[in-house]
Amino acid sequence: MRIVAIAAVADNWVIGSGDDMLWHLPNDFKRFKAVTTGNTLIFGRRTHEQIGRVLPDRRVIVVTRDPDWSDEGVEVAHSVVEALELAAQTPEQICYVGGGTQIYEAAWPYLTELDITHVKLAPEGEATFPVITPEDWTEIAREQHEQFDFVQYRPTPRT
Ligand SMILES: NC(=O)c1ccc[n+]([C@@H]2O[C@H](COP(=O)([O-])OP(=O)(O)OC[C@H]3O[C@@H](n4cnc5c(N)ncnc54)[C@H](OP(=O)(O)O)[C@@H]3O)[C@@H](O)[C@H]2O)c1
Repeated sequence: MRIVAIAAVADNWVIGSGDDMLWHLPNDFKRFKAVTTGNTLIFGRRTHEQIGRVLPDRRVIVVTRDPDWSDEGVEVAHSVVEALELAAQTPEQICYVGGGTQIYEAAWPYLTELDITHVKLAPEGEATFPVITPEDWTEIAREQHEQFDFVQYRPTPRT
């Protein structure tokens, strides 16, 4: 199963500031919708509640430590590993890891790909993406736009 972190990441690795929107990039939203539709998305409970609705036409798995938490239209897992096991029940779907910070970090060892929108800004914010280094990740495709680049990474082969 492909396990792909998908994120919009500023030049200073910031991805969020509480519930504030740091940028408004409609073309990034459109691409997010296009690539994730028909696939599986894993979110942390905070990101799911920040989105505030269930994204349609996708399998959504929300990770929480709260044994009593539930929400209509989503599946619940109590660890990232449990979420990945649930996702593996539909291995034909790409499993996108949609954040936030805690969930990217917990999923990091299991990722097979990164799908990053590199946003050409450096806003303040406490939520960050793990730093992508060439030792670990090799850029394999880049689509350039004025305000951001869409970049795909695969693991750098170990020598
Ligand atoms: N730019 C982007 O692409 C992007 C994408 C997504 C999010 N974000 C930003 O990221 C920020 C949110 O990130 P965050 O790190 O604060 O929250 P988060 O990762 O979305 O969710 C954190 C929650 O996930 C649950 N959780 C985390 N680790 C767990 C574990 N090991 N086992 C079970 N449950 C676990 C906990 O839920 P409970 O408290 O319910 O136990 C925890 O409070 C926001 O600012 C958001 O805007 C940005």
